[in-house]
Amino acid sequence: MNPKNSRAAAALAIEKVIYQGRQLNRTLDPVLQFWSAQDRRFITEIVNGVVRWFWLLEAFARGVMLKPLRKRDQDIYCLLLAGLYQLEFMRVPNYAGVSESVNAASALGKSWAGGLINAILKKHSQSRQNLQLDRLDESSRFAHPAWMIDRIRKEWPQHWEKILRANNERPQMALRVNLNRVSASKMLQFLEEHHIRAQMDSNSGGIRLLQRVSVRNLPGFDQGWVSVQGISSQRVAPLLDIQPGQRILDACAAPGGKMLHTLELCSEIDLVAIDIDPSRCRLIHDTLSRGGQKATIVCADAALTENWWDGKYFDRILIDAPCSALGAVSKHPDIKHHRQPQDINAVVKVQQQLLTNLLPLLKPEGKLLYTTCSILACENEDQIRKVVTDDDEFIAEPLPADLGGSTGNGRQRLQGVDAGEGFYCACLVRARQHVSWLLLKRCQAAPRFTFGSRDETSSEPAMLWTLQNQRVAIILWKILSVEEEWCSAVRWH
Ligand SMILES: C[S@@+](CC[C@H](N)C(=O)[O-])C[C@H]1O[C@@H](n2cnc3c(N)ncnc32)[C@H](O)[C@@H]1O
Repeated sequence: MNPKNSRAAAALAIEKVIYQGRQLNRTLDPVLQFWSAQDRRFITEIVNGVVRWFWLLEAFARGVMLKPLRKRDQDIYCLLLAGLYQLEFMRVPNYAGVSESVNAASALGKSWAGGLINAILKKHSQSRQNLQLDRLDESSRFAHPAWMIDRIRKEWPQHWEKILRANNERPQMALRVNLNRVSASKMLQFLEEHHIRAQMDSNSGGIRLLQRVSVRNLPGFDQGWVSVQGISSQRVAPLLDIQPGQRILDACAAPGGKMLHTLELCSEIDLVAIDIDPSRCRLIHDTLSRGGQKATIVCADAALTENWWDGKYFDRILIDAPCSALGAVSKHPDIKHHRQPQDINAVVKVQQQLLTNLLPLLKPEGKLLYTTCSILACENEDQIRKVVTDDDEFIAEPLPADLGGSTGNGRQRLQGVDAGEGFYCACLVRARQHVSWLLLKRCQAAPRFTFGSRDETSSEPAMLWTLQNQRVAIILWKILSVEEEWCSAVRWH
């Protein structure tokens, strides 16, 4: 059904997202194509708003409805929530919000519901000032499912309220400028000429848009001058520290934002871009052609290396892992409806498989960057800690402090606390097997062992000393790192 009434169209989209488990973007995109730019903005605002504030809007509805509507009238219930959203969050005058919602009921073929909608919305407007929001339960007040509030509070006891508030904000849009085509200041000028308000982000070199814009209206988008990419995501590709001639694996590449950035930084590389989802692999293809870049696209489960790997090792691997996306709720408010606690265990397993199976594909001294848009330790720091404690060969490289707070091996940004979306990043290096490294790792595994040296002619090692604890080993490791020459003469026995 494609109603000619924008509120009715919005109500049907909301119903699909909330009650039929459909993805918001995939639901909205085909709906919007039938509407003018102004209507598109209006429908997008209502659908995102109701999906985002659902729990609070439900509390408002409960306050004024005598009994719940039948399941088959969920479209009318969504229209009602959309009416409440317009009254509460949009600058739609009350009379227009009410009367247009009544008309929308007819457009849905349910004119009988007009009177009901009229009565409920009017009653809400009249009683609104007596409503005490702080008396509402937590789920309604913060507009999140209760399990998600509990999980975030447990994970971030100091910051949970800020995180929840940030989740309810309208997302900021950011652009990454392709510096091979245009300078950031020139891009800002183009945006200004197109009446698009924007400002530079000094840390990433990206541009923050101060208003939402359809990509179709972005100057230079089709020519690959700019890409839409979150400010945190724009920090990833430079961390790969790519050199010409290297072989790079982007293991979870679609739609290809970080892949394109990597190629823009250095196009003389052999880049393999994998994604498990065939429809998303097509997006990688589109991203490459928009940016005028080349890569080998493979549609496969990256963790099943026997199905796609040609036996050639990689200098760099990026795992931008599938995750709970609890750091990106403001951008994807439908996460609040669709994510379930058990999904997190499932995605943790996938992340583990990707790490375990892809790390062996790294050349010695190669780097693997692991990133997620999650704020849960089980998807982030715990995963990396497990690798560095279980496997002698990998160490976590320190990352710039402005990427986020240190979690030990990586860095974490939190929405509402740090600028932009929530994000985790860690960089694993496959160590050279030099003595200092072995020394440290062996000290960690066995606190008491002997350390020897022998000259090249003698098979009998000379005992130098016995190490009793890890602190001594760490000091020795640091000395050994500097004394590379000396290192090469030292042998284990
Ligand atoms: C966070 S998104 C990647 C975003 C992308 N790196 C970018 O910058 O545009 C995660 C991607 O991983 C893909 N994915 C999930 N499991 C995978 C697997 N086992 N192997 C390969 N890709 C996978 C999903 O289809 C999704 O496109």
